[in-house]
Amino acid sequence: MTTKETLIKKLEEKKARIGILGLGYVGLPLAVVFAEAGFEVMGIDPDTRKVEALNKGVSYIQDVPTETVAKLVKAGKLKASADFSVLKEIDAVSICVPTPLRKTGDPDMSFILSACEQVAKYVHGSMVIVLESTTYPGTTRELMLPMLTENSGLAIGEDLFICFSPERVDPGRKDWTTYNTPKVMGGITLACAEVASAWYGVAIKTVVSVSTAEAAEMAKLLENTFRMINVGLVNELAIMCEHLGVDVWEVIEAAGTKPFGFMKFTPGPGLGGHCIPIDPLYLSWKMKEMNYNAKFIELASEINTNMPRYVVSRILDAMNDRGKVLKGSKVLVLGVAYKPDIDDIRESPALDVIALLKKKGALVDYHDPYIPHFHDEHDHSTMDSISDLMPAVEAADAVVIVTNHKAYDYKAILQKAAFIFDSRNALGKLGKDSPKVVRL
Ligand SMILES: NC(=O)c1ccc[n+]([C@@H]2O[C@H](COP(=O)([O-])OP(=O)(O)OC[C@H]3O[C@@H](n4cnc5c(N)ncnc54)[C@H](O)[C@@H]3O)[C@@H](O)[C@H]2O)c1
Repeated sequence: MTTKETLIKKLEEKKARIGILGLGYVGLPLAVVFAEAGFEVMGIDPDTRKVEALNKGVSYIQDVPTETVAKLVKAGKLKASADFSVLKEIDAVSICVPTPLRKTGDPDMSFILSACEQVAKYVHGSMVIVLESTTYPGTTRELMLPMLTENSGLAIGEDLFICFSPERVDPGRKDWTTYNTPKVMGGITLACAEVASAWYGVAIKTVVSVSTAEAAEMAKLLENTFRMINVGLVNELAIMCEHLGVDVWEVIEAAGTKPFGFMKFTPGPGLGGHCIPIDPLYLSWKMKEMNYNAKFIELASEINTNMPRYVVSRILDAMNDRGKVLKGSKVLVLGVAYKPDIDDIRESPALDVIALLKKKGALVDYHDPYIPHFHDEHDHSTMDSISDLMPAVEAADAVVIVTNHKAYDYKAILQKAAFIFDSRNALGKLGKDSPKVVRL
């Protein structure tokens, strides 16, 4: 049997040892899916708090229940380590490290580079390595491949198999999970994709093979760019509707009744999270290197980035109409997570809304059932979620709904509040009909 055939057999028989590099929002659910399928999984992360928690059977990710982790750890299917030398014993590795932006807006590749440096130290024949982190097209072939083959002397597609497979986690979602969301797989060679698809196919319902790693990298960027641009479009529509005196929410509802050729997106105070506002900029950065300007991405990014400023200008106007000034007014922000019902604040537009409100002299408090406190980078303060919601709603000059968590009793909030700016249409018809409410 060739190395490829032996490795595929080992993977299909679940005798291969799996390593997951990076145990965050993407890596931990993936580790759990492989462990549940019957593999022995080793999670590897330099964050010793995560490693310790996992080895104690405790989950730190909202979507992964502690009972699931505890059961797998007890059964010896899931372990974690901060020591990368465990890679010596690993046959199949998924890399799920962060891919943020630098302060300059350029891709920060340092996490992928350091993960690949670690893998390169211990890489061996008969190994399959899959990059899951969202990145610019060409990363797998131009950056990863030489790091893993130049010193090892391993032949790609014969001894070593390298692929890109984009993660599609949607935190908080219950219907589409790591198991049942189809997974795209593109290899450096077709043999690479064959091995990795055999591996993922054991634990994930549908694996969709594409012909190259670049096609898989680009597919992920298309998905996220599609979303970013459509959100940008509907955000601009909200601004245009305001100028025209038309209710944007009614317009979206009406357009949404078309059963074909239309997909509903809703406006809001800006884009948040680790993916949608960031990933398309990896593509535009790569295109700039090739002297091509990714115009749609730049434009949507500009509109979306400006939404917190637009929201604050609308709050200013609405308070002015009520004979109030923002300076010295008590403003209560409801929801700071970047989307409803999750505990992730990364890139949340709430951070910018709060900073801008503070800059205008407002006395800002916030409440979020999922975010007990956060560090405000703009003024270097730590903000704590207020403990008693309803008295704070009653005391506020303005309540600003930034994230429409389901846990809120919006009817009760409307009753107690003096004025609400609803940037998500969380109040729906209640807000439309109330003189106390201004909607985005
Ligand atoms: N969170 C999402 O919803 C989501 C969805 C789709 C895609 N993605 C993509 O998946 C990737 C990971 O995102 P995430 O949300 O899981 O990030 P995360 O910050 O939650 O987790 C990343 C983990 O990697 C660890 N890490 C850092 N350097 C490492 C190294 N050299 N070796 C091993 N581990 C290392 C960190 O300690 C952290 O635990 C990103 O590229 C992101 O764009 C995320």
